Amino acid sequence: MRALVLAGGTGTRLRPFTYSLPKQLVPVANKPVLVHCLENIRQMGVEEVGIIVGDRADQIREAIGDGAAYGLRVTYITQAAPLGLAHCVKIAAPFLGDEDFVMYLGDNILVGCLAETAERFRASGSPARILVTKVADPRQYGVAELDETGRVTALVEKPTQPRSDLAMIGVYFFTPAIHDAVNRIVPSRRGELEITDAIADLLGHGGQVDAEEYTGYWKDTGTVADLLDCNRLLLDGTAGAVGGTVDAETVVQGPVVIEEGATVTRSRLVGPLTVAAGSVVEDSYLGPYTSVGRSCHISGAGIEDSIILEGARVREVTGIKGSLIGRWALIGSTARPAPQHRILVGDHADLEVAVA
Ligand code: G1P
Repeated sequence: MRALVLAGGTGTRLRPFTYSLPKQLVPVANKPVLVHCLENIRQMGVEEVGIIVGDRADQIREAIGDGAAYGLRVTYITQAAPLGLAHCVKIAAPFLGDEDFVMYLGDNILVGCLAETAERFRASGSPARILVTKVADPRQYGVAELDETGRVTALVEKPTQPRSDLAMIGVYFFTPAIHDAVNRIVPSRRGELEITDAIADLLGHGGQVDAEEYTGYWKDTGTVADLLDCNRLLLDGTAGAVGGTVDAETVVQGPVVIEEGATVTRSRLVGPLTVAAGSVVEDSYLGPYTSVGRSCHISGAGIEDSIILEGARVREVTGIKGSLIGRWALIGSTARPAPQHRILVGDHADLEVAVA
C-alpha cells in the first residue's frame, strides 16, 4: 500500500501565518502538522509516500526532504492549481500505479494508530473505506449516510441540510478503482473535483464503500483555535524530559520537555509544556500547554496555552494566553506611560490588548 498526502492547500483561515508558511508546516507540540501525518502513516506500515505540493513546494521539500528521517520514501507531486482533492488523485495516478493507497489530508491530525483500519480495508476487498466521526455541525464537511451494517449509502460534500451527523475525516483508503471514478466526475459548485463525489460515483457504479466510526481525537487544523486545541491534546500525552540546561533557581512542575541545547534560568515551568532546542527562557513563567519553538528568547514573560514559533522573542510581557506567535516576531513592553502602545503587525494579524 502507498500513501498520498495532500499538502497543497493555502490555509486562508490561518492568515497571517500562512502568508509565509504553508499551513501543513505550522507546528503543534513543536512538530509540524505534516510530520504528525507522516508519523501516523508510518505507523500503518506504509513506506512509499507521494506528497502533493502547491506553490509552497520549496518549503515543504526543505522540511521533509526525502522522508528518510521518518522512515519513508517521499515523492513530490506538483499541483499547478488547487483544483480539488480528487484532482490530486488524478495527477498522482502515475505514482500510485495499480496499488491500493491511503489518502491523507496534510492538515488533519489523528492521534490513534490506523494500522488495524488499513488491515480491515485490505481484508474487505471493497474499493473504498472511509472514517467518519460525529460532529456538531456537519455542514462544513463531507457527510456520510450509513446503513446498519456500516456500509455507506450516500455521501454529500458540505450539505446545507445534512441527513446525518457523520462527517468524513480526511483519511481515505482506496483500491485503484477510484481512478475510474475520478475520471468520471465533474467539478462541483466550488469549482473543484471533490473526493466525496468520486466516492459517491463508486457507489453509483455498484462499488461497496465501507465506513468505520473513529472515536479518537481528530482535528482538521483550519484555524488558530483548532491548532491550540491540538497542541493541548498532544502535550497532554507527553512525558517530561529535561535534556537542556535548567538552573537551580528554576522550579519545574508536571511533564516538561526541555530539549537539548535549550537553557532555562530563574523561571517557573508548569507542564505539560515543551521548549525546543536553542531557546532561552529567563525570569519567566511558562504555564500548561505552551510550546516554545526553536531559538526563541523568552525573558520576564508569562505565557500559557500558546504556541510560540521559531525565533520569536517575548520580553517583559505577562498574561499571554491562547496565543500563536509567529516566527521571529517580537513582543515587548515599553517604558512609555500606559496606555501607549506601539504596534507593528502584518496583514490579517489579530491582536487583543487588555485595557484596565
Ligand atoms: C475536506 C473534504 C471533506 C472532509 C474534510 C475533512 O474538506 O472535502 O469531505 O470532511 O476535508 O477535513 P475541506 O477541508 O477541503 O473543506
